[in-house]
Amino acid sequence: MLAIEIIEKKKNGLALSKEEIYFMVDSYTRGLIPDYQMSAFLMAIYFQGMNKEETSNFTLAFVDSGDKVDLSAIEGIKVDKHSTGGVGDKISLIVIPLVSSVGVPVAKMSGRGLGHTGGTIDKLESIEGFRVELSEKEFIHNVNKYKMAITGQSANLVPADKKIYALRDVTATVNSVPLIASSIMSKKIASGADAIVLDVKVGSGAFMKTVEEARELAKTMVEIGKSLNRKTVAVLSNMNQPLGKEVGNANEIKEAIKVLKGMGEEDETTVALTIASYMTVLGGSFKDFETAYNHLENIIKSGEAISKFKELIRIQGGDSEIVDNPDKLPKAKYSIEIKSDVSGYVNYIDAEGIGIAAMLLGAGRRTKEDKIDYAAGITLNKKIGDKVSKGDTICILHTNKDDIEEAAKKVLQSYNIDNIQPKVDKFIYDIIM
Ligand code: URA
Repeated sequence: MLAIEIIEKKKNGLALSKEEIYFMVDSYTRGLIPDYQMSAFLMAIYFQGMNKEETSNFTLAFVDSGDKVDLSAIEGIKVDKHSTGGVGDKISLIVIPLVSSVGVPVAKMSGRGLGHTGGTIDKLESIEGFRVELSEKEFIHNVNKYKMAITGQSANLVPADKKIYALRDVTATVNSVPLIASSIMSKKIASGADAIVLDVKVGSGAFMKTVEEARELAKTMVEIGKSLNRKTVAVLSNMNQPLGKEVGNANEIKEAIKVLKGMGEEDETTVALTIASYMTVLGGSFKDFETAYNHLENIIKSGEAISKFKELIRIQGGDSEIVDNPDKLPKAKYSIEIKSDVSGYVNYIDAEGIGIAAMLLGAGRRTKEDKIDYAAGITLNKKIGDKVSKGDTICILHTNKDDIEEAAKKVLQSYNIDNIQPKVDKFIYDIIM
């Protein structure tokens, strides 16, 4: 097979065979095809798309490029969740104890932050002692015994995605439905999940800016899941502003604790309960979504959810006292209030802008080598629809850095305040299954 002939075929809009797709992915991963040919191939996919069968084969070629996690030693239906990435997205921290509390095993493999979005593993590392790298043996043992464990992704999980994602990032080919769908689904399938709930974020802080785009991505991922015998549900959730009020690592742990104690913000509580409910239905604990939702709400009210989170921290070596005393989490040297210079209503918040500001304060990595400041972050005092008077604090910046000018400017630019009170938006736009 010749790469140039396969690129030519895709450029002309023809469907590729399984062998051709495997040839491209495998040869590129092994360094036998140069970046310029893979770039041309990705651009051809970007413009011509892929049909269902091609997208499924592309996903499988990714899965087969590296290690596959064998979770067969865990009893029960292993349900995983994945978010397409948001700002203030602490949903995984909330759903792990919720889902495991009804006996559905949660074997969670999570990533670190990507661009302006935070990663669950980074967040958990803000808890002193919490071990985020478990051996496969300990991981499986913990899921069997406690019904929950979380670990970072193994280094050799879907190496094709790592290499191709880096190339997409610099060739303007990230934003393609078949490429995003196969990248995400390959990692979930290689991680050994039997069933998958996808949190597809929509809005200013997400890859997908409109509900229509998100629906197309969600349908493609659900189809891939089904074609590979994985029960898959996608939840389209609102990312037109950060979730909850806290952005940053320790900040988000504090806020997840509030949700698990039943004192969380309505947006993140609703999204977490929705995702967790579908996970428990796919895991076989409930017959329908409503029953699951009501039950999980009661698990929060009864205090069981927060006890489970405490247990997770303790099992993985962390200081579980932070649950009763969140002030033990890393604290920043400075807390700077950002005030509004106008009166009106918050109409718009550029969630990506807030994510970038948090990174500038030290909460995220701009390069792989960057060190994270776990205490850095942003508290949003005002969210969309809130009334603001001139001089009110709209946000608080938490940082150990002396220079906050760029972050403060970014936060102010991310807010739009005017006289019209905006309509209340939904937290969940659609469910695809
Ligand atoms: N997240 C991924 O893992 N891959 C993509 O392509 C986009 C978001």
